[in-house]
Amino acid sequence: MKNSGIFETGDGSHSILSEKFGVTYHSKHGAIQETQHVFIKHGLKSKLGTSHSISILEIGFGTGLNALMTLLEIKDLSIQVDYHTYEAYPISMETAKQLNYPKLLGIDSKKFLIMHEIDFEKEHLISNNFHFTKYKKSFDTIGFVNQFDIIYFDAYGPGQQPELWDKPLMEKMFLALKKDGILTTYCAQGAFKRNLKAVGFTVQTVPGPPGKREMTIGKK
Ligand SMILES: C[S@@+](CC[C@H](N)C(=O)[O-])C[C@H]1O[C@@H](n2cnc3c(N)ncnc32)[C@H](O)[C@@H]1O
Repeated sequence: MKNSGIFETGDGSHSILSEKFGVTYHSKHGAIQETQHVFIKHGLKSKLGTSHSISILEIGFGTGLNALMTLLEIKDLSIQVDYHTYEAYPISMETAKQLNYPKLLGIDSKKFLIMHEIDFEKEHLISNNFHFTKYKKSFDTIGFVNQFDIIYFDAYGPGQQPELWDKPLMEKMFLALKKDGILTTYCAQGAFKRNLKAVGFTVQTVPGPPGKREMTIGKK
């Protein structure tokens, strides 16, 4: 499968314009900046120090940037991360090889490309403390119960895929989280936040990454 549409975002890091959905994988203001703020700062870092192991569910593996930055963040920490990620439409290896994340983040590109290359539905040890499983399945097949500390909710926006921000999937997200678990996302749409509340989340709106006024955190 051939993917095209790589472009440079405001912080110099790449993103992709999806032909299928007509939307970009990240903020055009900066892909790395967005991941750092929404998923690392408000997701991973908010749970560091609470336990020796953290389990993360990612909604939309896409380019693999969120996974790569999580791997980097925990590299020298004595913590185990169990990372599960769903992606129904994987990018091609040809595309993954062109992405500039390993270069910009100063990491061996093999660590990044291996996450794209490996089989679906199997656990892989990417580094000594990063356990990684990806699923080539649609989000609506998710059926975890009380399993995750953090959800990186990184689907395309409600403008493109409104069904992914509606109550049925939010109920699945709520169920998948452990007590005190959090869902973090770049989206701050009112209807989405009401859906989170309706299924039981406590909702917090916080400042977004550069170029975005607000983002959302849901707590179980
Ligand atoms: C915003 S992008 C994810 C960005 C990604 N986290 C990254 O770091 O590059 C959304 C992803 O969701 C995937 N996707 C869209 N609809 C889906 C569905 N129903 N089930 C599973 N994956 C889906 C897309 O192919 C895309 O890769």
